Amino acid sequence: MRKTYASIRGTCDFSPSQAFSFNNIINKARDIFSLRGYEEIILPALEEAGVFVRGVGKTSDIVEKQMFKVIRSGSDATRQEIVLRPEGTAQVVRYYLQNHLYNQSSLSKFFYIGAMFRGERPQRGRLRQFNHIGAEVIGSASIEFDVEIIVIALKILDAAGIKDRQLQLNTLGCHDDKENFSKNLKLSLAKEKSHLCEDCQRRLDTNPLRILDCKKEGCRRIVSSLGKSQQHLCKDCLDQFEKIRSMLDALGIKYNHNPLLVRGLDYYTNTVFEITSSKLGSQDALGAGGRYNSLIKDMGGPDIAATGFALGIERMLLCLPESSFSPKAKVYVLCANEELRQDALKMTEKIRGHGIAADTADFAKSLKAQLRYAQKKGACVVVILAEEEDKAGKCILKDMEASTQKVIKKEEVFLALKGLKERIK
Ligand code: HAM
Repeated sequence: MRKTYASIRGTCDFSPSQAFSFNNIINKARDIFSLRGYEEIILPALEEAGVFVRGVGKTSDIVEKQMFKVIRSGSDATRQEIVLRPEGTAQVVRYYLQNHLYNQSSLSKFFYIGAMFRGERPQRGRLRQFNHIGAEVIGSASIEFDVEIIVIALKILDAAGIKDRQLQLNTLGCHDDKENFSKNLKLSLAKEKSHLCEDCQRRLDTNPLRILDCKKEGCRRIVSSLGKSQQHLCKDCLDQFEKIRSMLDALGIKYNHNPLLVRGLDYYTNTVFEITSSKLGSQDALGAGGRYNSLIKDMGGPDIAATGFALGIERMLLCLPESSFSPKAKVYVLCANEELRQDALKMTEKIRGHGIAADTADFAKSLKAQLRYAQKKGACVVVILAEEEDKAGKCILKDMEASTQKVIKKEEVFLALKGLKERIK
C-alpha cells in the first residue's frame, strides 16, 4: 500500500453535517448584517506582511510568532513579503484606504466571512486555519456603533443557538490613556520581573499591556493580583465608557466589566470586549472586538475612527451539538437493465428538474444491490426502470416504507411523486 496523507495539524475538515452547521451560521449572520445595512466584502487570503506588522503591531504575538509567510519557488529579490492573513481588521483598513472609500462616504459598514491563518500551537479551539465572521464600522467615533457591534455579535451567537456566553467589557481609553496604562503597569510589574515568563520579561520593556494577555499560569497569577484601578483613564474616556455601559443596561445586555481585558492586538483604543463561553475550556473566546481609532491613521490614512468585531466560527461549532442534518435524497432511481441506464439517468434529471431531490444507485450493480443501497441511504420511494415495464412505457414506483409497489406510466412519475410531497421533501 502506498502512503496515505493526513490533514495538517491545526487544520480541520468539516464533515457534511459540520458543513451544514457552518453554512447555517453564515446564512443567519448574513441576514443579521443585511438588516442593519452592513455590506459584505470578500478579500484575499494573501496580503503583504506590512499590513499586519503596521496594523496589528510588531510586538503582538500574531506578528512576532504566528504569521504564515508564503514562499514562492524561484528567486526575485524585489518581491513583496507575502503572508496568509492572520486577521481581517488591518486588511479591511488596507482595502478601505486603497480604494479611498473615505471620499465616497463618511461612514462604511462592512462584514466579511473567511479563513484566517495563525501559526499557533494547536489545541482544542486553537487552530492554524480558522474562519471569522467579522464586521468593521469605519468613519465614526460614536459609541452607538460600539454598542451596535456588540449587539450584532450577540445576535449571531443567539441565532446560532449558543446560549452559554458571557460578555467581558473594558475600555483602554484614548491613545494617551493607553500610554499611561502601559507606564503604570510597567511600574507595578517591575518588582515581579524575575517571576514573569521569558516572553513577558521582554514584553515588560516592549509592550507591557501584552503581559495581561499571557496565558502562562505564573504570569496569570501575578496579573490577577494587580489592582484594578482605572486611574489612567481621562474624564472623556471614562464618561464615554459609562455611557456605553448604560446603553447596554438599557438594552438588557448583561456584561462583566473586566479592567484587565486588553486584547492581543495592538490597534485597540477605548472600548474592548470579548465574548467567552464556559463550554470552551482554556481557549474560551467565541469572539472579540473593539474600537481602533488610531489604526487608519497609523496605516497612512486620514484620522478616522472605527470599531468592529470578529467571531470564530469553529469555536461556535464546538459549543453546538452535532447537527442531525441529512443531505440525502428521499427518492432513488434504480435501473434493472443495462440498456436502460441512459433512460434512468434522464429520468433522474427530470425529477430533479421538478425541484425534487433525487439520487441514483450504481447502475452497474444488480437491482438487489441497488435496492439495498437505496434502503441504507434512507430512500422513501424508489423508481425502478425494468425491461418488461419499459416496453409498455412504464416503470415501477416502490414505496420503501409501506413495502408496496405499483406500475405507472413513465410520464406520470412526477405526478406520483408530487402526491408524496410531504414525505420526500
Ligand atoms: P481575535 O480575538 O484575534 O480578534 O479573533 C477573534 C476570534 O477568532 C476569537 O475570539 C476566536 O473565537 C477566534 N480565533 C482566534 N484565533 C483562533 C485560532 N487560532 N483558532 C480558532 N479560532 C480562533 C481579531 O481577529 C480582530 N480582528 C477582531 C476585531 C474586528 N476587532 C475589531 N474588529
